[in-house]
Amino acid sequence: MERSLVLIKPDAMQRRLAGTIISRLEKQGLKLVALKMLLVDKALAKQLYAIHTGKPFFNGLVNYISSAPIIAAVFEGEGAVGAIRKLMGATDPAKAEAGTIRGDFGLDIEHNTVHGADSVDNAEEEIKLFFSENEIS
Ligand code: RTP
Ligand code: MG
Repeated sequence: MERSLVLIKPDAMQRRLAGTIISRLEKQGLKLVALKMLLVDKALAKQLYAIHTGKPFFNGLVNYISSAPIIAAVFEGEGAVGAIRKLMGATDPAKAEAGTIRGDFGLDIEHNTVHGADSVDNAEEEIKLFFSENEIS
């Protein structure tokens, strides 16, 4: 059984897509085991995206994810990390297939609606950034 971290990004919150996104994940059998809404501060944003430090889009990425409240969620299921990546679609919404979250709702590569951890190890690290163990069912 795997767990993954999902973030519903500011563009999705603004367009009232939170319920739709959670529903799409639940319909695939993924179980919601933790959920919170928060405004990410710059320090947390930099930790979350540490792997991208120094890249040309890093500052934009950090500013964007901390620009308005988001939802952080942990979903559990068999192969949850890969299953969520598949449901999200390609990073660039222009390249994401129809039927994926980014393909259907993403606006551009920055405003791409959702984040999902990209490996089991990163998922565990990212979950710890947002939740303590007693917040996870
Ligand atoms: P995420 O972390 O948000 O789930 O997205 P991802 O794994 O599909 O993409 P990643 O490579 O981890 O990049 C993180 C976020 O950085 C922005 N990005 N911009 N301008 C660019 O070339 C570029 N590349 C990545 C995206 O907003 C991406 O979600
Ligand atoms: Mg990523």
